[in-house]
Amino acid sequence: MGVDKNLEDNSVWDAKWEYLFISYQQDLRHAFYLNALLNKEMSILEMAAGSFRDMAFLNSIGYNCKGCDFSSNSVNLAKKHFPKIADKIFELNAFQFSNNIERFDVTYHNGFWGLFENDDILRLFNKQKSITKKFMIITVHNGHNHNFKQYFLEKKKSDNLYAIRFFEIDEFIDILGLTGNDVQIDPVGKGKLSHEDLLVKDKNTDQAEMLKYMRPNNLELLEISERLLIRIPIN
Ligand SMILES: C[S@@+](CC[C@H](N)C(=O)[O-])C[C@H]1O[C@@H](n2cnc3c(N)ncnc32)[C@H](O)[C@@H]1O
Repeated sequence: MGVDKNLEDNSVWDAKWEYLFISYQQDLRHAFYLNALLNKEMSILEMAAGSFRDMAFLNSIGYNCKGCDFSSNSVNLAKKHFPKIADKIFELNAFQFSNNIERFDVTYHNGFWGLFENDDILRLFNKQKSITKKFMIITVHNGHNHNFKQYFLEKKKSDNLYAIRFFEIDEFIDILGLTGNDVQIDPVGKGKLSHEDLLVKDKNTDQAEMLKYMRPNNLELLEISERLLIRIPIN
């Protein structure tokens, strides 16, 4: 699935966030998946945060989480929408930042790496690693879910938001030069219908309950999950 180079342009995202920002606030599932893996003592950064919904939600339940994006429009919209945490929201290009910016225990993003080819992903990985103390969480679209991939192929004919890349596990760890032992992979997202998504719907989001579904033995839920939530510890 080829990437759309337009999605690497911040003015394109400025325009998109103008109409997407509010509707994106509705779906908080990814914040609950994160909540199952984090603890409240950690300092956290969301990169390419876009709608900033996840970092805002995490702050509302007691986490210390900052968020950034390279779209000045998304940053401005987020500061207005979340005035109490405006000081935690800032502009940052994930390819270009100086070496002496703040470092965080955990850095994460969702749906970001699907915009890029392998060489850029490796550059982004190294930049992110440089500001991460404990672990990175990278959430990507799941290439093992053929129905979901097909749905995006159809939708991208009329909307380039869907022109993003899906990843299979082996491909992902190859790009980064890692091995399966270096990463932990949780397949997540069941169309808001079952498993961990049903727990979110029923507000039954206790960490242990969520992990029962997110961390299945032998990845049996892999082919029906929308995303891969990949945790990479920093050694
Ligand atoms: C699919 S959206 C992410 C949506 C986000 N996870 C959310 O929950 O709203 C991709 C985001 O990547 C941002 N982006 C693209 N290139 C970037 C870069 N070089 N540095 C920082 N952010 C970037 C875009 O502005 C956009 O907000």
